[in-house]
Amino acid sequence: MKHLRNCWYMVGWADDVGTAGLSREILGKTIFFYRLEDGTPAAILDRCPHRFAPFSKGERDGDVLVCGYHGLGFDRNGHCVRNPFSARIPAGTDVPVWPVVERHGILWLWAGDADRIDQNLIPDFSFVPDTPALRSVRGYTLMKAHFEYGTDNLMDLSHIEFVHRGTFAGQGIIFQGEHSIRQEGETLHSDWWMPNITPPMVAQGLVAAGETVDHWLRMRWNAPASMRLDVGACPHGAPESAGFDIPQAHILTPANEHETHYFWSASRNHDIDSAEADAYMLGLFREAFDVEDKPMIEAAYANVRGKDFWGEKPVSLGIDQGGTRARRLLESLIAKEGAHG
Ligand code: FES
Ligand SMILES: [Fe+2]
Repeated sequence: MKHLRNCWYMVGWADDVGTAGLSREILGKTIFFYRLEDGTPAAILDRCPHRFAPFSKGERDGDVLVCGYHGLGFDRNGHCVRNPFSARIPAGTDVPVWPVVERHGILWLWAGDADRIDQNLIPDFSFVPDTPALRSVRGYTLMKAHFEYGTDNLMDLSHIEFVHRGTFAGQGIIFQGEHSIRQEGETLHSDWWMPNITPPMVAQGLVAAGETVDHWLRMRWNAPASMRLDVGACPHGAPESAGFDIPQAHILTPANEHETHYFWSASRNHDIDSAEADAYMLGLFREAFDVEDKPMIEAAYANVRGKDFWGEKPVSLGIDQGGTRARRLLESLIAKEGAHG
């Protein structure tokens, strides 16, 4: 599939890859993620070059991956270092490997050129790991849609009024808000500002009955589809710090052309050690993303699966500019890569 190469793709939450490792399809390739004995994450194509057995069905001998079929052993660089049948290592045994980095409790894979690797391109998700002051719940779902249809959904939150009636139920607040888009370098922001409104569901209890709040939904996008959403509210006219802000991660990684890994998290700064609060947040967000968003995105994608998005002449409503801008920016980054070989 055509994709941006020189950027970081989320592989999973850091604790998804334990001693057993994890096999996951990314950008159309099945990759085995594992940890070296010192905990460093590593990634190798999950396919032995002999008779194509997956390494995920093999064993580990120290840092050497031993194929479970006929015992060839491979190091972290994908070089065959052991042949149980001979002292000779046959030609053509090198296996593709990828750089992986653990940052903010997230594993990231660099899909580009080794000499252009740049950890500064990993977007800031420092709110994800738990601290004494911040606690997050995390989720994952596989979505049967091209990842940019997920980006459209997240960068255009006007759908809250329709898709999320059972959870965030906007009661018309989006229609009272102002939407703005801005670009800073290669970062996009798609923000809603809803001043002086009746408290929405997430802001219940923030003010006395009859009083109003200022409410915001701020989405930040970085290529390929790594987004941070801030959902917050404060008493109308008060400083934002007098209210609350829930930072969320919404990160999409293409499994292949037609399937997307959707990772999400939401943090809170209250009831840090409360299992009930964890269960409430997990239940709410699973309902919103798995039960409300996902079937709509999948059904929409099924209508245009395999077709060129622009070729289908999508109607523009203005409020959908966030998704449009993200698509255009990603296209231009891919084109720039192509121009530079
Ligand atoms: S398939 Fe791996 S050693 Fe034969
Ligand atoms: Fe949604």
